Amino acid sequence: MTDHRRFPPTGPATPPARQGKRPSLIERAGGNDSWRGMVAPQPSPPSAPAPAAPDQAVALVPTEPFGAPTFDPANLPASTLRKDLPVAASLEGKVTPQEFRGTFHIIDRNHLRDQGMIEPEGSVTGLLEEFRIIKRQLLRTAARARVSDHGVRADRIMVCSALPGEGKTFCSVNLALSMAAEKDTEVLLVDADFAKPSVLSTLGLPAGPGLLDALADPRLAVEDCIMGTDIPGLFVLPAGNASGNDTEMLASARTVQVLDRLTANTRGRIVIFDSSPVLAASPASSLAMHVGQAVVVVRADMTSEAALRDAIGLLSGCEDIKLLLNAAHFSPSGRRFGTYYGYKE
Ligand SMILES: Nc1ncnc2c1ncn2[C@@H]1O[C@H](COP(=O)(O)OP(=O)(O)O)[C@@H](O)[C@H]1O
Ligand SMILES: [Mg+2]
Repeated sequence: MTDHRRFPPTGPATPPARQGKRPSLIERAGGNDSWRGMVAPQPSPPSAPAPAAPDQAVALVPTEPFGAPTFDPANLPASTLRKDLPVAASLEGKVTPQEFRGTFHIIDRNHLRDQGMIEPEGSVTGLLEEFRIIKRQLLRTAARARVSDHGVRADRIMVCSALPGEGKTFCSVNLALSMAAEKDTEVLLVDADFAKPSVLSTLGLPAGPGLLDALADPRLAVEDCIMGTDIPGLFVLPAGNASGNDTEMLASARTVQVLDRLTANTRGRIVIFDSSPVLAASPASSLAMHVGQAVVVVRADMTSEAALRDAIGLLSGCEDIKLLLNAAHFSPSGRRFGTYYGYKE
């Protein structure tokens, strides 16, 4: 993921790893065999043509560092393409579609743009193109996991990072907007950074009861907390009120039931969790046990290798961990999405 800030940080605001003393994980990774293939290669040579703007210099996509087998969607059985089927047929005729009972909201497109998010009805941009590539990999893995008996976890993706400020919310919201644009997929974006929830403010949505409230109170149906939006296919579940024992609640048996209800009777719904930083708050490692994929956002100029290794160790509850390089400024291959469609900033 490219850095899409209009004015990338300079001087004192630049994170320490960028200030020259010690190269960042990404900058050192080219020579590190154990991380090869999951991080950015070397910076562009000086002779490379200068990008039009520093914040759109490169696209970099998540990788599958742990040797996931290659996957050909053409080999999938037709039953996995269940979004093409009526709900009743896709779920063996036993269910009716989940009834939407929450509140409905219009999302202010200007606010979305100001927050640096994809504009649902906007033109093709580099940002849009980068997230198209990322979502495709995640959706393919989810489809593959569905047939590999991963059950409901296949449809759950957790976005996390080692530390705060590495781009979890930026990536979760953009990923959700991008997936919602799919014809056969709807997305439920869950604000799961309980200590610092920011999905609602990023989308310009009002406060409301959420996941933690439904976990704490068995009388509250989690479906009632889900917000509908005027962006087709996009639903949002707020974090709810933090209580101090969020981690224990997430590890409880009730969590299994509540999370199951998020996708029960839905048609092709993917649940994206904007999680807490793994090394700063413990709920992330509890949540990892309930998801099919964990996307670890690695900020190009910020995340250290030690922090990343530590974070991945704490996510061991999830079998499929992917890394997403965020805010990169260079592309050794010259990859630069969006320009082909005449995109200019
Ligand atoms: N690739 C990017 N391009 C532009 N801005 C970004 C990018 N990634 C993150 N940001 C910005 O960096 C700040 C921190 O990101 P955020 O997603 O809130 O981090 P986290 O959720 O991990 O704490 C936000 O202002 C966000 O908009
Ligand atoms: Mg956040």
